[in-house]
Amino acid sequence: MNDMYVPISIESIESDLFPDVALFIKSGNNYVLYKSHGRDFSAKDSERLKDSGVEFLYVSPAEMEVINEYMESNAERLLKSSTLSNKAKGKMMYQTSVNFVGDIFTNQEKVTDLERSKRLMENLLIYLSSDPAALNSLESVMSHNYHTFVHSLQVTTLSILMHSEAFLVSKDEMLDVGMGTLLHDFGKIFIPKDILNKTRKLTDNEVAIVKRHPEEGYNYLREHTHLSEVSLAIVRYHHERINGNGYPLGLTEREIPRSAQIAGICDVYCALAIDRSGRKALPEDMILHVMKEEMKGSFNERFLDVLESIVCSEEEAQLVL
Ligand SMILES: [Fe+2]
Repeated sequence: MNDMYVPISIESIESDLFPDVALFIKSGNNYVLYKSHGRDFSAKDSERLKDSGVEFLYVSPAEMEVINEYMESNAERLLKSSTLSNKAKGKMMYQTSVNFVGDIFTNQEKVTDLERSKRLMENLLIYLSSDPAALNSLESVMSHNYHTFVHSLQVTTLSILMHSEAFLVSKDEMLDVGMGTLLHDFGKIFIPKDILNKTRKLTDNEVAIVKRHPEEGYNYLREHTHLSEVSLAIVRYHHERINGNGYPLGLTEREIPRSAQIAGICDVYCALAIDRSGRKALPEDMILHVMKEEMKGSFNERFLDVLESIVCSEEEAQLVL
């Protein structure tokens, strides 16, 4: 179902550069037009809304493309601007995460999960801001390659949901899992943008450069942040596979921490679930098939079952029965 309206925080609408889209206000279960195309959103509007306790306006899914393009072309400039406070930058990252966490769930009627994942991401980003070096690292990912950033948010949301669904994890451990997963691809900031954005097949040399990102990310974050061992292991081992076919070390099942295995599973799932580089997104049952059959032996099957229970809709499960 893709009829979800997307929340946009009032602060981000205040910017002069914000695109001209129709904005809706949520009333019960309905979305009522607040501002049509061509009408300005003034400081007065913003004040009035804030006074009445409104934090978000909504954009129709049909216009999400415009919002995404705006974020994509402005993220780097906004994050590097010295006039924007850290708080505002944090909000912007939160906004982006809210815009995207829903995308990975085909079964978006499960609104409780969606609300829950938004809350989780918010808490996580607040926590992340308590470590300025970690926050900076995430900002670097966002400004170096926007797609990597969005992908990391999605992988994190899914990983946190898998952990909370299937394992007894303390709050502290969950935060560590979240931090490590948010930064799992941090090492990609060391890969030249033209390689990251290349849509054609990479040369052997380029593949070798890309494959350095887990180790480079791990080395940098270990030295410059206070990330825990749990978080750092996710960064370092998210491309390891339980049959030993992964990289950088070719570890096997017992040597790869659970949270890194889950990150690897969510990483592959999210990469296949989203349109990217001219390749169409696959439907969720097809992705599960690829991961269970074509990549057989790469992932723990019990973890794949947990993933399936989260991403496949109940109605579809009934149809299969
Ligand atoms: Fe990666």
